[in-house]
Amino acid sequence: MPRKTPWWRSATIYQIYVRSFRDSNGDGVGDLAGICENLDYLQWLGTDALWLSPCMPSPNADFGYDVADYFDVHPELGTLADLDRLIVEAARRDIGIMLDLVPNHTSSAHPWFVDARSGPGSSHRDYYVWSDPGPDGGPPNNWVCATGAPAWTYDAESGQYYLHNFLPSQPDLNWWHEPVHEEFEEILHFWFDRGVAGFRIDVAHGLYKDALLQDNPPVLPTDHPVIRRGKLRPVYSSHRPEVHQIYRRWRQIADGYEQEPALLGETWEFDYQRFGDYYGREVPELHMGFNFGFVEAAFRAPDLAEVVEGTLAGLPPGAMPVWTASNHDVGRFPTRWCGNDARAVKAALTVLSTLPGTLVLYYGDELGMADVAVPEALRLDEMTMNKPDGGRDRCRTPMPWSSDENAGFTSGSARPWLPLGEIGATNVRDEQADPGSVLNFWRQLAALRRDGRIGGVEKLERVLLDDQVWAYRVGEVTTVANLSDQVALRPLPGAGQLSVLASSGASHPGAEALGDVRLDPWQALVLSTRP
Ligand code: NOJ
Repeated sequence: MPRKTPWWRSATIYQIYVRSFRDSNGDGVGDLAGICENLDYLQWLGTDALWLSPCMPSPNADFGYDVADYFDVHPELGTLADLDRLIVEAARRDIGIMLDLVPNHTSSAHPWFVDARSGPGSSHRDYYVWSDPGPDGGPPNNWVCATGAPAWTYDAESGQYYLHNFLPSQPDLNWWHEPVHEEFEEILHFWFDRGVAGFRIDVAHGLYKDALLQDNPPVLPTDHPVIRRGKLRPVYSSHRPEVHQIYRRWRQIADGYEQEPALLGETWEFDYQRFGDYYGREVPELHMGFNFGFVEAAFRAPDLAEVVEGTLAGLPPGAMPVWTASNHDVGRFPTRWCGNDARAVKAALTVLSTLPGTLVLYYGDELGMADVAVPEALRLDEMTMNKPDGGRDRCRTPMPWSSDENAGFTSGSARPWLPLGEIGATNVRDEQADPGSVLNFWRQLAALRRDGRIGGVEKLERVLLDDQVWAYRVGEVTTVANLSDQVALRPLPGAGQLSVLASSGASHPGAEALGDVRLDPWQALVLSTRP
């Protein structure tokens, strides 16, 4: 089948945390060659593109989200030649390679910052956000970084503070400074010229900061719960209107390439209208933005329906919604939503893949892979080290390929960089052999997506919604999901005429049995007017 164009519409994108996918050289760390070796599996899964977590050279204070060189590959993960080979080999299987671009900050080891820090007169000083101390000699304003500590670090040499919305070793770039735009435009060209299928853009909502560096105001009771987790509304330290200029320029660059690269922003914006703005209203901006409604929502019919209907209402006409429920920051949905119950995982995959739009799966989602309780002594993620939920390490553990030693993640004797979970039946080899596995159920859904039978962009219409059951129609397909551990019986007029494309439950009712729909606990059905 010829690759559809543009490839990213209604696509299935698979996120790979490179260090944890497959270790080809036995050093305990996953690498690009390990991905290359498993492209047949990724094709078999039905993926259109891989989004690779950052692969550029980095001191790894934030495992690649602290970039020291935007034009190369981290030696632990491979070489530029390995990446080129991956792009070519993946393309042979109709799979695009998306990279993670980190434009909000660099590593403090990046030569720009090393130079900037050398003094106020240095040629890269204005690449970063510097400010004199506040009136009391302390930080210039009340902004806090991702750990909750002040977002400013004092540089004794120059007597100024520099801004970092994340770790002190991740200084924020100053997007008011035109040369920063030029640098990143060169970076885009460099990678697009090498054939990458697009970028996931880190902290896409945050690149510009208020020019006056005003204090953030306190949170309001009406703010979204995510904002209310902090004490301040980050209205001056991120979410600035000027950020849209960047994406208008980048969109023009991307649209000039034959491979139709996609810009997929990490857009933490819970106001549906403002979220939709990232796609561009009058002038095109990002091709797609992550909406994180699902990662905050409970796995309940009304909660999911609210996110979906709100998101769709906020998008500009023709915009491509993106659905995701797991990633390397927020954890895995099989654990968060489903308590690692395979029935619920299948129901969740059914919902995710039948909504109109592009789907982003996280490696292991297709297996129902769970978060892993990483013992305190083995935790590595500095940013979330003290978080009682186990921090982000819990969702970055190695991929289970088999039930062999180290789950087949590494062939070498080195200890995997993060511990594996319990080695049980949740692994690729065993699930491939089990017709009832999450993996084989995902494959059914993937085949329907590949054939354009589900996940298309027709309008979503609500058919039924109550505390337990959510049913919606997209084009010729109706999805009915029982998001509870109780049996549900619901009238579904006309259901008797529909054929069953997929059923996540043990029972597979034939079309004639449907009219009133009876759903087992956590059962989801995909029904169609076409056989
Ligand atoms: C968002 C990334 O997903 C996260 O892993 C990282 O720590 C921050 N941005 C900072 O780059």
